[in-house]
Amino acid sequence: MSGNMIHSGLEGVYIEKSSICKVDGEKGKLYYRGYCIEDLAEKSTYEEVCYLILYNKLPKKKELEEFSEKLKRERTLSKEVLEIIKNMAAKAHVLDTLRTAMSAISADDPEPYSADESVNIEKAIRIIAKTATISAAIGRTKKGKEIIQPDNSLDHSENFLYMLTGNKPDREKTKLIDVMFILHAEHSSNASTFGALVACSTLADIYSAVVAGEATLKGPLHGGADEAAVRMMESIGDPANTEKYIDEALAGKKKIMGFGHRVYKAYDPRAKILKRYLDEIDGNDEEDINKLVRIALTAEKIMIERLGKSHGIWPNVDFFAGPLYMHMGIKPEMFDTVFSSSRTVGWCAHVIEYWKDNKLFRPLEEYTGKTDLEYIPIEQRR
Ligand code: CMC
Repeated sequence: MSGNMIHSGLEGVYIEKSSICKVDGEKGKLYYRGYCIEDLAEKSTYEEVCYLILYNKLPKKKELEEFSEKLKRERTLSKEVLEIIKNMAAKAHVLDTLRTAMSAISADDPEPYSADESVNIEKAIRIIAKTATISAAIGRTKKGKEIIQPDNSLDHSENFLYMLTGNKPDREKTKLIDVMFILHAEHSSNASTFGALVACSTLADIYSAVVAGEATLKGPLHGGADEAAVRMMESIGDPANTEKYIDEALAGKKKIMGFGHRVYKAYDPRAKILKRYLDEIDGNDEEDINKLVRIALTAEKIMIERLGKSHGIWPNVDFFAGPLYMHMGIKPEMFDTVFSSSRTVGWCAHVIEYWKDNKLFRPLEEYTGKTDLEYIPIEQRR
């Protein structure tokens, strides 16, 4: 037995000081740069939230206009990046194509690494703008449809939804996609942000760090949970089957995707906001989406009874997101593109902050293998 304390999954370990985001897991509260998520979701816009996260202040009107203009100028993609998307997107997972295209974006930057904060903020703006265009182009290519060029009369998230679905969203959907982007913009040192930080701690450039974030986002325990949750709802099929499905899953020690969180031991405030939107569309969409909404709302009640207060396992942001994406015309295999397009600002802000006092991540592991084995030449091995 060794005396080393192993922090499995780095649970409970603080890795840095940060002023970007506070997740209060006990109270179920979330703040970006001090502003609570409820206010931001209701009163702000994604572009304003990006400014807030990157510059650590709410913009004045003129500052926001200039910021939005910069984002718009950076929306287009080079022919080479579009080629990569066209060649890969149909068969690859959306995040595989996204990170490949992101690597290609860095090739157009003559100096991908900079130690200068303001230069890196400009790079971040470029990355945020282009990620949305890449994500939408991946979605179009996957569906065998023409890639749609950005429309600069539309705001960032609205333009993303337009480029992805081919339809200019009405007021309700414009607000909803913007709220989705705001809720996914940042979430402290979650797995993908940590992935980005590990990459940047080597003084790799910001593009490499974002690629690491995108790679880490992929799995069903993190960014893939919304798709997994909606797939589960689809396999439940009918609201009347929900209770039986959940009880059998829990009895078989299966996890219900979209529930539970490493930090939140109370209701995820982002999920609370989304539930209100779900309540509004309950019964007001096409039959198959209405069913998903009913299943989601039924499952939420049952899971809270089974595991909520007793085990601290509550719905997280990914549980209600799926039916809402479907309501906006976004298919499950595309959910990750919304998450990664929104979260890019969080990754970039953390990288820029971390570089102010960079320290290489290099944890230890407790070696459990043997040592000093005798090397036997290959002819003599049995
Ligand atoms: N359904 C049923 N049981 C659960 C669930 C769930 N969704 N989540 C946790 N548990 C149980 C788990 O089985 C374990 O039970 P026991 O102690 O009896 O073995 C206990 O709770 C602890 O679970 P854990 O997975 O060891 O704890 P964690 O802190 O690593 O969990 C989590 C965090 C997000 C990985 C986990 O809750 C989970 O796998 N949830 C489903 C996937 C999901 O929704 N992920 C999205 C997270 S929020 C968005 C994001 O940040 O990406």
